Amino acid sequence: MPALLRNAPASEPTALARLTQQHLEVCARGLAINMTRGVPAAEQLDLAEAFLALPGVDGWHTRDGSDARNYGGLQGLPEVRELLAGPLLGLPAEQVVIGENSSLALMHEALSNALLHGMPRSERPWSREAEVKFICPVPGYDRHFSLCEGFGIQMLPVPLLEDGPDMDQVEALVAADPAIKGVWCVPKYSNPSGVIYSQAVVARLAAMVTAAPDFSIFWDNAYAVHHLTAARPQNLDICGLAAAAGQSDRVLMFASTSKVLFPGAGLAVFGGSPSTVDWWLRHRSLRTIGPDKLNQLRHVRFFGDSQGIERHMQAQQQVLAPKFSCVDQVFGEHFAEGAARWSRPLGGYFVSLEVQPGCARRTVELAREAGIALTPAGAPFPYGRDAHDNLIRISPTCVGIGELAQACAVVALCANLAAAQQATAGDYQ
Ligand SMILES: Cc1ncc(COP(=O)(O)O)c(C=O)c1O
Repeated sequence: MPALLRNAPASEPTALARLTQQHLEVCARGLAINMTRGVPAAEQLDLAEAFLALPGVDGWHTRDGSDARNYGGLQGLPEVRELLAGPLLGLPAEQVVIGENSSLALMHEALSNALLHGMPRSERPWSREAEVKFICPVPGYDRHFSLCEGFGIQMLPVPLLEDGPDMDQVEALVAADPAIKGVWCVPKYSNPSGVIYSQAVVARLAAMVTAAPDFSIFWDNAYAVHHLTAARPQNLDICGLAAAAGQSDRVLMFASTSKVLFPGAGLAVFGGSPSTVDWWLRHRSLRTIGPDKLNQLRHVRFFGDSQGIERHMQAQQQVLAPKFSCVDQVFGEHFAEGAARWSRPLGGYFVSLEVQPGCARRTVELAREAGIALTPAGAPFPYGRDAHDNLIRISPTCVGIGELAQACAVVALCANLAAAQQATAGDYQ
């Protein structure tokens, strides 16, 4: 039976025809702009050029005079731990371990240890539990979710609110179900919406009652020093709060200098309570005889102290802040009131764009046809399932500002077209 026209507002076919025509014109322009991942721009990498010449052919002596070229130093040199522990994790140097380059690899290692051996307070390895579940605040970082999926950990999405995960939901879930072993947290400038956790949320996470004795908070502070404004939100002391609540081994912290210097050539940092650090080192000692201390010295010489990190990140801010303003401005110009919402983050690498419900996938598809590659819709959700199909992650860092303005205008056009197509299809059902 042919579909029936229902309540078609006179303006809608016109809007659809106009947007379709504009989309055809953009498709003919042959754009090719990739905004799929949040990687640093070449100008940011240029800021660290001097790093490449360090520590130099005769610069391999550590502060205590030992030879950084040789094996050893499982926890990392004291001078590099003193440099990075505070700014990246808000911990004292004794409570961190320097890894290789990637914090994601450390998260993989932590989950592997938990599954094979158990956490410090586990009754048995997680792999011997009937099931293991993690709370995943959404929208969130897709690679956290891939780790869970890869390890067979069931994911429970919980909304990420303006000040952190919806704690009423989190507390109810973890109190009731001993299979819930952990939660992912990106506490400062979350990926993708730029949320900063409040002190109240952090205190509740640290102290909440959990049915699992070995419940663990995976605290990924990937964007600790990646500010876009003059504001400097402090690293909240979740380890101290957990210890005060009698839960000192609850928190596993991760960060890296991947997006401070060079991805792949930075340093990853693990942190936690003294006994969590012992647990980590015990398992680490089977895996490596010592990390790359020359890279550790390179970091110490390049930054000098925490003020050096601050100066370097201010220079990065000057590159990045105009790009985030550009996204805000172009979306403001191209979306009518109420047609979309987007975040205006104070730091981090992403903007989250909320389009009309049911339109995110179609928007990404239309953008691809127009030569703009975006992160797949659904990626910021466990199993790629965005129940409302309305969230798109925008990664403005790696494209030049001219291309970025063009790309955002095209994304807005595609979102408006997707909404018009949906409205018109609805009218014909
Ligand atoms: C939240 C978050 N954690 C971790 C990473 C990866 O960090 P690394 O390069 O240290 O593995 C990223 C990279 O985009 C990220 O957004």
